[in-house]
Amino acid sequence: MANVVVVGAQWGDEGKGKIVDWLSERADVIARFQGGHNAGHTLVIDGVTYKLSLLPSGIVREGKLSVIGNGVVLDPWALMAEIERLAELGVSVTPENLMIAENTPLILPIHGELDRAREIQNSLAKIGTTGRGIGPAYEDKVGRRVVRVADLADAPTLDLRLDRLMTHHNALRSGLGLGPIDREALKAQLLEIAPKVLPFAAPVWKHLTEARRAGRRILFEGAQGALLDVDFGTYPFVTSSNTTAGMAASGTGLGPTAIDFVLGIVKAYTTRVGEGPFPTELFDEDGTRLGERGHEFGTVTGRKRRCGWFDAVLVRQTCATSGVSGIALTKLDVLDGFEELKICTGYELDGQPYDYLPTAADLQGRIKPVYETHEGWQESTAGARSWADLPAAAIKYVRRIEELIQCPVALLSTSPERDDTILVTDPFAD
Ligand code: IMP
Repeated sequence: MANVVVVGAQWGDEGKGKIVDWLSERADVIARFQGGHNAGHTLVIDGVTYKLSLLPSGIVREGKLSVIGNGVVLDPWALMAEIERLAELGVSVTPENLMIAENTPLILPIHGELDRAREIQNSLAKIGTTGRGIGPAYEDKVGRRVVRVADLADAPTLDLRLDRLMTHHNALRSGLGLGPIDREALKAQLLEIAPKVLPFAAPVWKHLTEARRAGRRILFEGAQGALLDVDFGTYPFVTSSNTTAGMAASGTGLGPTAIDFVLGIVKAYTTRVGEGPFPTELFDEDGTRLGERGHEFGTVTGRKRRCGWFDAVLVRQTCATSGVSGIALTKLDVLDGFEELKICTGYELDGQPYDYLPTAADLQGRIKPVYETHEGWQESTAGARSWADLPAAAIKYVRRIEELIQCPVALLSTSPERDDTILVTDPFAD
């Protein structure tokens, strides 16, 4: 049986929600492996809109097991709030359909506070984070002082963790002008939430190994996008986890041989939220038009997304760093009605050509895109369900993208509706 990883191949917001939902209908287990409630996935099922941040998309479907892997950073209060919101929509989340890895690090209120304080005070080094405490929680994980899910059941270990956290954070906080942590209040908050979280705790690696052996299909659901990867993204304007596909293995406890297909989600143009380099960003009417037609506002923070032309260099690079087997191209219909479309095929800097995005921050900030221009199409592609429904110029645009990124289109999504999808290669096919 095939196991599939879905990752964003740009800066996030590529339209993963619909594709993951489409695939999760055919999967048995849906696992999140990185990020936290900085993600925002919108699902529309039978006319009901579900907005998920932390829970895997499979949670809204009956008979599926959803899993939060150890690569995620988990805010237990955000989790409970999301579970309550789903309950209001008639979705019940129980240990029968949700499992959380015991070794998952927790995001505490002090992490969010630190994240926001840094963003406000450090105007020169502003990242434009979601302010959810993602970065500070990952810092504590690698600093070996984070509270993990299993610690909630073990008071002496919890005390030890809190002591280490106090030493580190109080020094940081005093530098940022924040008062010291109220250790007892924090401990009381944790002890209060513990009995709500612990019933979901499990050795996820073991359950997934057994599921795999039993031939069950696992869908690994990535959050954010490959250009926000802490190693391969536009550092330091990145998130604090690995968003590339390899993380699916280490973020759940399965080895890399468990992954049979990597589906990269790619938007037919480019967007990004937050600060950082963006070579094909548009500041003109075309950019405004992409933003308006594409409804480019953040699901989590409501921020306006920056918009630009399709950057084939970046997507070729992310297809390589994630080992993408095929892409799902989304939002092609947003390009309907443009006279001309541009695709970035390379870069240029100080007279030097580049066929990849260099690593140095200075170069990333100054690099200039080299474009080729394509004829647009005036017909609507929205809702197309076969290649025959697409205008010739749109097919040419898609084919040129495939050629430039050196990766085939497996799926083409032509509207937010799940059935408006052209399937070329089934990622779950054996
Ligand atoms: P953080 O993940 O909150 O630390 O934010 C770091 C960077 O990642 C910022 O530029 C955010 O805008 C961006 N980011 C985080 N989550 C998402 C997402 O789900 N979609 C798009 N951008 C995101």
